[in-house]
Amino acid sequence: MKRILLDCDTGIDDALAIIYGIRHGAQFAGIGSVHGNVPAPLAAANTLRVLDVLGAAEIPVRVGAARPIAQPLCTAEHVHGADGLGNTNLPPPKRSPYPGSAAEQIVSLAHRFPGELTLVAIGPLTNVALALLLDPELPALIPDVIVMGGVVQPPGNVTPLAEANIWHDPEAAALVIEAAWSVTFVTLDVTMRTLLREDQLAAIANAATPHGRFAWSVLQFYLDAYERRLATRTCPLHDPLALALALDPSLATYRSLPTRIELRGETSRGMAVCDLRGPQADRDSSWHDVRYVAELDIETFHHRFLDALLS
Ligand code: BDR
Ligand code: CA
Repeated sequence: MKRILLDCDTGIDDALAIIYGIRHGAQFAGIGSVHGNVPAPLAAANTLRVLDVLGAAEIPVRVGAARPIAQPLCTAEHVHGADGLGNTNLPPPKRSPYPGSAAEQIVSLAHRFPGELTLVAIGPLTNVALALLLDPELPALIPDVIVMGGVVQPPGNVTPLAEANIWHDPEAAALVIEAAWSVTFVTLDVTMRTLLREDQLAAIANAATPHGRFAWSVLQFYLDAYERRLATRTCPLHDPLALALALDPSLATYRSLPTRIELRGETSRGMAVCDLRGPQADRDSSWHDVRYVAELDIETFHHRFLDALLS
């Protein structure tokens, strides 16, 4: 099984991704928290709460960047609740985060497991960018970076053109795609294909496992938030999909597209712009190849997601 280094802003769908990973046997080398859905210290506490539910006491969790590189902190409590876990107001976690930062953890684990880690980033990319600044040799040590972020076919979810994880720290995203490693964006238009059906929600409602019951309780706030947006009671599985693809890339097919992060546009800042003109188009070296999901086996993914919660 692959060694996963996770970076997240836990967050309801981040929590579901952690459950997916643990229940499908992922070996988490470490988990870092980042600002995004909630402030980074709360995201770390929430990660530890989820690990408590799962009885996974041994995974190192470290707190990461408190704010983006070049813009003020902005959080998303309207989607995830004031506590980041759907206002379920859980007790404090049983343990504290380890000392040291999430960016330092990325560097130290990359050196401990050279060539073995898949870095999965399901929050803003600040920690990953800081790790690249700490150690420019990082791309030689980490073969694959999977990001939940960006959107090929708008709309975005924070602006008409931008998806939250890229929009929360566009400068960081630009550094990450410029680096000489393989980056995959699991984009919003793809994750929006994973909306849970009524029968699947009913199955989760009847879950008998502690992690299934936890998932159902945190999902209520998330379902409310998406119901306001979509006018139907469902929700997408953004972060669980990114983790599922990191564990089993064969759930999808992929295509590579030259990409730039928009850093200046008045209405487009934070957009991951991908060039759909094809290989013959004139382009300068400021564009970087990013891999995108093309086809997705949603049925198998949904099946595995439910399996993670129900067994
Ligand atoms: C992404 O933004 C966050 O709100 C979610 O946790 C997910 O990582 C979706 O755009
Ligand atoms: Ca997230």
